[in-house]
Amino acid sequence: MSIINVPRGTQDILPKESKKWQYVEEKLRNISNNFCYDEIRTPIFESTELFARGVGDTTDIVQKEMYTFLDKSDRSITLRPEGTAGTVRSYIENKLFAEVIKPQKLFYIGPMFRYERKQKGRYRQFVQYGVEVIGEESPKIDAEVISLGYNIYKSFGINNIKVSVNSLGNPSERKAYNEALVKHFEPRIGEFCKDCNSRLYKNPMRILDCKVDANHELMQSAPRLLDFLGEESISYFNEVLKHLDNLGVKYEIDHNLVRGLDYYTHTAFEIMIDNPNVELKTLCGGGRYNGLVEMLGGPEGEKGIGFALSIERLLLALESENIELPIEESIDLFVVSMGQSAGDFAVKLTNDLRLAGLKVQNDYFDKKIKAQMKLADRYKAKYTIIIGDTEIEEGKVTVKNMENFTQESVQINELKKYIEDKLGE
Ligand code: HAM
Repeated sequence: MSIINVPRGTQDILPKESKKWQYVEEKLRNISNNFCYDEIRTPIFESTELFARGVGDTTDIVQKEMYTFLDKSDRSITLRPEGTAGTVRSYIENKLFAEVIKPQKLFYIGPMFRYERKQKGRYRQFVQYGVEVIGEESPKIDAEVISLGYNIYKSFGINNIKVSVNSLGNPSERKAYNEALVKHFEPRIGEFCKDCNSRLYKNPMRILDCKVDANHELMQSAPRLLDFLGEESISYFNEVLKHLDNLGVKYEIDHNLVRGLDYYTHTAFEIMIDNPNVELKTLCGGGRYNGLVEMLGGPEGEKGIGFALSIERLLLALESENIELPIEESIDLFVVSMGQSAGDFAVKLTNDLRLAGLKVQNDYFDKKIKAQMKLADRYKAKYTIIIGDTEIEEGKVTVKNMENFTQESVQINELKKYIEDKLGE
C-alpha cells in the first residue's frame, strides 16, 4: 500500500519540535498577560461573507487564497485565513462593546489557512498569535500594540529586527490618494503584470505592494500617501511616533507600506527580520482598522487596532539567529527494577510519584538492569533508583544522581520530598 502524505503546505509538528511550540506559546501567553490582554477563542471556520466583507473582496486572500466550501446545508463556509475578522465578529455578536472595561484588549493563538504558494516560512496552515484592541482609539494604544509586537521578538533574543510604520489616513484621504494613483499608473498600466492591471481600479494602492513590478520606474515616482493626509491624520501619526520613541521602539517610516488587507486606516506597521539568510523577512504585520466594526454590522465609532505574527516564522527567525530555546528534555527519575515483584512495585511507585508531580518513567518489559540503565540515559533521567526485593523489604532505595554519580540511601516514602528538594537546590 502506498503511504499518504500530509497535504501540501502543511506540516506535522513532531515531539521535539512541539516542545519549542509549547515554550513559545507559553511565553506569548505570559507577555500578553503582563500587557493585560485576555484570550479569545473563535471558531476555525466562519461564514464566507465575514471575510469577503471584513478582509475585502479585492484582496489576494479573498480572491485566491481561501479554503471555501459548501457544508451539508449548502452554507458557504471558509476556514479562517486570519484572526481579525472573527475576533471583531465575536466582539459585535457578544456585545463586548458594552463591557465596563474599554477598549477590550484581546489575544488569540490558533491555526489559519491560506491557499498560498508553498515556500520556507509560508504554509497553507500556519499558527498566528494576534492581538486586537477594540473600542477606543488613542495614539498610546497604537504605540502599545507596536511595542508589544517589537518586544515579543526582543524577549526571545531576536534583536536583528526592523519596524516599518506608515499612516494610511482616513477613508476620504485614501480615496483622494487612490484617484491620484490611478492617474499615475493608468497611461502605462500595460507595462505592468496581470495582477497590477486588475488592481488598477479596484485597489490601486496594492500596485505599490507588487513584487513583480517592484523596480518599475513608476513605482519610485508614484505619489506618496503622506502628501494626501490631512492635519488630523498627520498629528495622530506624529503622536504615535512620539510614543514609540518614548518606549524605545526602533522604527522607520515606510511610505510604500500598504498592507494586504482592506480594513486598515491610519497606523499600519510590519516587523521585519534584518538577516540576509531569511527569504521571507516579514515576521509580523498589523494596523488600525477604524471602520471594521461598523462594516461588520456593529455600532458606530468602535475603533480597533491589532497585529498578527506566525509562530512558524518566529521559530525560523530564532533558527536563523542561532538562538536555542531553553527546552527541558530530561526527566526527574527513572525507576529500575530487578525481578517480577519489584517490577510490579515499580509500576505502582512510578504512578504514585507521577501523581505527586514528578516526571517519572519505568521499564515495561522486565529488561536486564544494564538495559534499563541505558534507557534511563536515553530519557536523560536526572536521578535513578534500583528496586529489588531487599529494597521493598527495607522500604529504602539508593538514589543515584546521574550527573555527578553520587548516591544516597532514601526511605521510599520520602522519595518524592528528597527528589523535589534536590531539584530545587
Ligand atoms: P497578515 O499580514 O496577513 O495580517 O499576516 C500576519 C502575519 O502572519 C505575517 O506577518 C506572517 O508572520 C504570518 N503569515 C501570514 N501568512 C502566512 C503563511 N502563509 N505562512 C506562515 N505565516 C504567515 C493579518 O493576518 C492581520 N489579521 C493582522 C492584523 C491583526 N491586523 C490587525 N489586527
